[in-house]
Amino acid sequence: MTVLIVGSTGMLGQALVKEAVTRNVSAVGLARRGAELSCDVADATILATVLDAVRPQVIVNAAALTELLECERNPEAAYLVNARCVAVLAEYAQKSRSYLIQVSTDHYYTGDGASLHSEDAPVRLLNEYARTKYAGEHFALTAPNSLVIRTNIVGFRGTTDKPTFVEWVLGALKRREALTLFDDFFTSSIDVMTFSSAVFDLLQLRPVGILNVASGDVVSKKTFIEAFAERFDFCLEGDRVASVKMLGGVCRAESLGLDVSRAEALLGYRLPCLPEVISHLADAYQEQANAI
Ligand SMILES: NC(=O)c1ccc[n+]([C@@H]2O[C@H](COP(=O)([O-])OP(=O)(O)OC[C@H]3O[C@@H](n4cnc5c(N)ncnc54)[C@H](OP(=O)(O)O)[C@@H]3O)[C@@H](O)[C@H]2O)c1
Repeated sequence: MTVLIVGSTGMLGQALVKEAVTRNVSAVGLARRGAELSCDVADATILATVLDAVRPQVIVNAAALTELLECERNPEAAYLVNARCVAVLAEYAQKSRSYLIQVSTDHYYTGDGASLHSEDAPVRLLNEYARTKYAGEHFALTAPNSLVIRTNIVGFRGTTDKPTFVEWVLGALKRREALTLFDDFFTSSIDVMTFSSAVFDLLQLRPVGILNVASGDVVSKKTFIEAFAERFDFCLEGDRVASVKMLGGVCRAESLGLDVSRAEALLGYRLPCLPEVISHLADAYQEQANAI
């Protein structure tokens, strides 16, 4: 079985490649640069040609334009990468009877605080990122053998130009910068390592449709950062608590909790809650430090 990991150089893609190596699964990575296969997924013709040449039995799509502001400023690019590319992957999956996993988002829920949203909860599409990711879900589901995973992932990317959320928090803590802690922005964030392991477990089970794979709880960004700072032995000093509504620019969803009971029943194990997620991040950080 060859697994094609689209977006293999990103925060999630790197973790998926690592998980494939651990499990001795043959995997090929694709991105615009730095991967085994160089391809711009916005170019449908080239992407289709690459798929026909590689002939993967499984595709995990972790490529996306993830920055909200960039999607807002360039909706066409967001559509091409987050949505139309998925139509090309789905067409290939359909004709070759391969299995497609489309990694989606949780950016669909607003106004109900720390609620947990099941796979069939009504969505609100407040910005181009959410609109294009939602379109991508529908394109993926045109293939009968496809799974859309909604999630919120945290981890390390390891590039200085584009820090992830936890890299940004860690950098600010190290520089002793005061942080703004949002107490009304809720997520079910799971570490990319556990998420990747769950993805490979799901590959054995081949469920189809939409599935939430995230942490087993929902917490505010304030609670997440406090737990993170404590685990990494930093004191939060001079930080201020604020509402996410004070963030200007892009209109954003903020009640992003995901109900993972269906995934847990399928997988046969519990997904981690905040303390385990933070602990996995600390382990990954230590591993990175040891490797230097
Ligand atoms: N990060 C989060 O907080 C979060 C939360 C919920 C859901 N998600 C979803 O999780 C998935 C992975 O996110 P991530 O944070 O790992 O993203 P990321 O770190 O930004 O990685 C994106 C990957 O996609 C590739 N890519 C982007 N544009 C491309 C193009 N035109 N052609 C080919 N490859 C392209 C990038 O490589 P190149 O730029 O070199 O091409 C990179 O490998 C996405 O579907 C995202 O929507 C993320």
